[in-house]
Amino acid sequence: MELSVVVPTYNEGRNPCLVADALKTVFEDRDFEVIFVDDSNDSESVSILHELEATCDFVRVEHRTDAKGLGTAVVRGFELAQGELIAVMDADMQHPPAVLLDMLVHMRQGYDIVVPSRFVPGGDDGGLSSFRKFVSWTARILGQLALKRVRAVSDPTSGFFMMRCSVIQGVKLRPIGWKILMEVLVRGHYDRIVEIPYRFQSRVAGQSNMSIQEQWNYIKHLIKLVSESPEDRRAYLFAGVGVSGVLINMLIYTMMVHLHTELWIASVLSGSLAMVSNFVLNDRLTWHDSRNGALLKRFTKYAMTSLVGIGINAGVLAVLAYKLHVDYLAANASGIVVAMVWNFYVNSFWTWSTRRRQVSVTVSAVALERSNA
Ligand code: GDD
Ligand code: MN
Repeated sequence: MELSVVVPTYNEGRNPCLVADALKTVFEDRDFEVIFVDDSNDSESVSILHELEATCDFVRVEHRTDAKGLGTAVVRGFELAQGELIAVMDADMQHPPAVLLDMLVHMRQGYDIVVPSRFVPGGDDGGLSSFRKFVSWTARILGQLALKRVRAVSDPTSGFFMMRCSVIQGVKLRPIGWKILMEVLVRGHYDRIVEIPYRFQSRVAGQSNMSIQEQWNYIKHLIKLVSESPEDRRAYLFAGVGVSGVLINMLIYTMMVHLHTELWIASVLSGSLAMVSNFVLNDRLTWHDSRNGALLKRFTKYAMTSLVGIGINAGVLAVLAYKLHVDYLAANASGIVVAMVWNFYVNSFWTWSTRRRQVSVTVSAVALERSNA
């Protein structure tokens, strides 16, 4: 089968019929299916869906009574899907079905995931109230700050996208709450994403199910994704280890000064011990899954990297403080930041051997022309 469209529904009344009709028009005689994964507790919505399933051969309905929640409903849809390609969309016509054709065209060009976006030129988020826009903006920014893989995508919190089924093959998806696309972006296997503009519509009927509870779920989901995504976890662990190093350095330094050690000896010793402790923690935690070669070799590389880092720190400081007359504390802080970035990347790919994975994100001009026409 070419395509499965997964549509989560919750008390949507007759809206799914509109979606099914529209998809039928859009895809005519293509080989596709629509899977409604329904958590409704209003019996009318449920019976409308079953009626739809009985009258449309491309419609399948999975009604759940034991589970609830948008994210898990979509994952259930993924399990049932038989298509080479899988799309996800809402049941309330806020995601224009015609855009699916544009998405198909892009999948055929070899992209792994197509994300229609409200926030690329030609896109429009018109269907939301200004309050919802603000909430949605905050959620997006938080996600993009926290997760590297989400950063390059302009509309990662939407529930509208298409992907090859291989993206999620063998991947355990465990979303909390609504943001299934973020779950796919963080855990999925893919190389190329394309974004195409689309106009978010107003709901045809009924009300949004967004709630405070869902905002809270989103925060929990973010924390979970960060802690379970190797590339993000690493950056945070590295920063945490760095902070622990500063504390250890200060502690030992203070103790030694109290014991009347020469200041410079105290400084060199506490600095070295902090470096050793940073190395051990990074080796055990930050890059525990990327160790190879002898411990001593890793330590030597780590020490060399740190040494160059100290040089970089001093260099940045010198340029800022002496040449540009920046405040001495700000100059040092800038030096530390640059050195930390240096340390992180060199350690990632040299001291330890983290696999590099380049994901490309393109904004498509093809769809741009079409939507402007
Ligand atoms: N199965 C199931 N279970 N479906 C649900 C549930 C649930 O608990 N809650 C909501 N849905 C379905 C709705 O029936 C609808 O088809 C879709 O999920 C989106 O729900 P809406 O209530 O229409 O959400 P929205 O319009 O406020 O939010 C949409 O736009 C946001 C963009 O800001 C969704 O697409 C969000 O994912 C998106 O972030
Ligand atoms: Mn909606």
